[in-house]
Amino acid sequence: MVEVLVTGGAGFIGSNFVRYALRSHDDWHVTTLDKLTYAGRRENLHDVIDHPRHTFVHDDIGNAAVSAPLVEQSEIVVHFAAETHVDRSIQSAGEFIRTDVEGTFVLLEAARRAARLRRFVQISTDEVYGSVPAGASRETDELKPRNPYAASKAGADRLAYSYWATYNVPVIITRASNNYGPYQFPEKVIPLFVTNAIDDIPVPLYGDGKNVRDWLHVEDHCSALDLLIDAGTSGEVYNVGGGNEVMNVDLTNRILSTLGKPSTLIKPVADRPGHDRRYALDTTKLRGIGWAPRMPFERGLTDTIEWYRTNDWWWRPIKEADPAFRSYYEAQYGRR
Ligand code: NAD
Ligand code: TYD
Repeated sequence: MVEVLVTGGAGFIGSNFVRYALRSHDDWHVTTLDKLTYAGRRENLHDVIDHPRHTFVHDDIGNAAVSAPLVEQSEIVVHFAAETHVDRSIQSAGEFIRTDVEGTFVLLEAARRAARLRRFVQISTDEVYGSVPAGASRETDELKPRNPYAASKAGADRLAYSYWATYNVPVIITRASNNYGPYQFPEKVIPLFVTNAIDDIPVPLYGDGKNVRDWLHVEDHCSALDLLIDAGTSGEVYNVGGGNEVMNVDLTNRILSTLGKPSTLIKPVADRPGHDRRYALDTTKLRGIGWAPRMPFERGLTDTIEWYRTNDWWWRPIKEADPAFRSYYEAQYGRR
């Protein structure tokens, strides 16, 4: 069996990747290491948590007593674990530094000693490039992160690179654009707006609504990672972008019209401080090794809306009962 460690595997992308990995590789044993923060949920893995080739470990990546032996026994590490929400990082950045930077450091130290390790995938983000007024970011572009989340991810991204350059740890770094799909925590714009709209609750659109994001279906992200584990070159960075640039206001209108809800549900609210205007990725490098996104945005968005519509067992308990979410949700509404 190929031992694969997935950190943050109970989160949105991680849980989709665990499912993808178990489905695609009969010879992989996958260990999920997850702290189960507010964003990490066993429910995200409900159909695979007891899979015979899956082991779940509930712990912090920063706890070397647990995380280091897991890294040391692995052939492949896919490191998703992070604090991920920009608005939370603006309110309080400490956990972002602890998990995204220091937690990554703990894993990388263990990776130096991992004799069987052939791939360490550092999951980074397009946000490390900062706001891109025109054109598309290339892997060689300067990093200009503009919020504490993006800065902590940039720190981890470059730290991982340094462990390749200095210690020859087989690191690759992937910078993906905004993901969407099932099991995304309903603080992020698509699941928040979809689940609000289902309940006829206004959707808080920041600023003028003209910010642009490039949307990538989570399955397409998983297929890129799967390819790069073997086909990637250590020390290299790969952009993973969906090629679907959409303005927030257009995204919002599409969500509302798909659900048959009126545009009067749009509630303009104060802008996010330092709100990045636009992200866009040049994906020539990844396409050059045979990857292309398969999911057309139109279909991916409709399927995703349908998933939230038919899986309210998954999101209602989060929105109604989770105190961490509720206070955050109330804080959002306080901005009206
Ligand atoms: P998420 O917030 O849904 O999940 C994060 C997971 O990490 C949760 O399960 C959480 O419990 C776990 N975690 C947090 N701190 C931990 C710690 N100290 N130890 C162990 N586990 C911990 O995030 P996501 O959207 O799935 O993002 C996953 C990764 O992909 C992150 O590194 C993020 O920066 C990156 N990324 C996300 C997007 C996106 O659009 N969501 C885009 C590009 C890159
Ligand atoms: P988000 O899902 O938080 O992802 P990111 O900030 O990492 O891109 O936000 C996506 C876009 O949607 C971003 O431009 C901010 C905007 N947005 C709103 O307008 N209202 C909201 O309530 C949220 C959460 C986001």
